[in-house]
Amino acid sequence: MKYKRMGNSGLNVSAVGLGTNNFGMRMDYESTELVLKKCLDQGINFIDTANIYGGRGKSEEFIGQALVGTRDKYLLATKVSGPMGDGPNDRGNSRKHIMDEVENSLRRLQTDYIDLYQIHFTDPETPIDETIRVLDDLVHQGKVRYIGCSNFAGWQLTEALWTSIHEHLTSFISIQSQYSMLERDVEREVLPVCTAYDLSFIPYSPLAGGFLTGKYQRGADIPEGTRFAGNQRAQSRFLTDSNYDVLEGLEQFAQERDHTIGELAIAWLLNNSSIDSVISGATSEEQVVNNAKAAEWELTTDDMESLDEILNAK
Ligand SMILES: NC(=O)c1ccc[n+]([C@@H]2O[C@H](COP(=O)([O-])OP(=O)(O)OC[C@H]3O[C@@H](n4cnc5c(N)ncnc54)[C@H](OP(=O)(O)O)[C@@H]3O)[C@@H](O)[C@H]2O)c1
Repeated sequence: MKYKRMGNSGLNVSAVGLGTNNFGMRMDYESTELVLKKCLDQGINFIDTANIYGGRGKSEEFIGQALVGTRDKYLLATKVSGPMGDGPNDRGNSRKHIMDEVENSLRRLQTDYIDLYQIHFTDPETPIDETIRVLDDLVHQGKVRYIGCSNFAGWQLTEALWTSIHEHLTSFISIQSQYSMLERDVEREVLPVCTAYDLSFIPYSPLAGGFLTGKYQRGADIPEGTRFAGNQRAQSRFLTDSNYDVLEGLEQFAQERDHTIGELAIAWLLNNSSIDSVISGATSEEQVVNNAKAAEWELTTDDMESLDEILNAK
């Protein structure tokens, strides 16, 4: 496994990480534990979760339970902001909600520190300096080691970074947003901010929910037990003719080089110097092993140009 320093911090994260929004939903505790152990085996240290995953806390609870005795070998990233109750202060980025929720996440994760604490969504009702100030307090209290954000637009990210600079507060080291060979919106506004401020970009849904592994084929039945099985929304979003056209081009490219398309989707992201870890949501030990292999594949400039041609045909 390769390790990269996360943005302008000194933290070394594995180039392939693990996303955990299946834990406690489509995955029970036993399969969660197997996947997490296999990660360590493969050198994967970066685990991304959120308080809301698995239905208000289940993903964090499963991780906490599975990592008893080995917690220090992993870097735990979690998030706050999404709804954790029905009350007016049970969501968002206020001092109250963040201070309440960090304690709940620490308890569920069975740890006394979070490696990377991320603001999951923007909150237009809370001034950004209130949010950054409370995160800065949590860093000083040792409950949180680094801070990051997620789903911020380019201007919101810049506003947050300038708030930290001007108020002498801890700065975000990372932003997490959707990015894959099929979803490239962040290239316009967010990735340029990451380059300018040496921020780490953490792409979510890097395999387009599994589409970029080739498991869904044009005209074939949706394989049982997969994420898209029975999920009409995902099917109509991803299983389109133009996506299949791209998929077929990518499959050929990967096969000619003795790799899988899943490895290609991850290696393509890792080619971007702002991306230090790609968190794919593996649901089995086999998927963990396959995703880890991607870290070994370095695409050349010629490869990237050929891939641009395939992707731009979309
Ligand atoms: N910040 C945010 O707002 C946000 C939003 C979404 C996700 N995230 C984070 O980002 C992580 C990754 O997102 P995602 O789960 O949507 O990503 P993804 O990696 O694009 O999709 C995950 C799905 O891909 C399939 N998969 C993974 N590895 C595979 C392999 N080697 N072979 C075949 N299939 C494979 C699995 O499908 P099957 O289930 O069919 O096995 C899995 O459910 C999440 O887990 C979460 O931690 C963050």
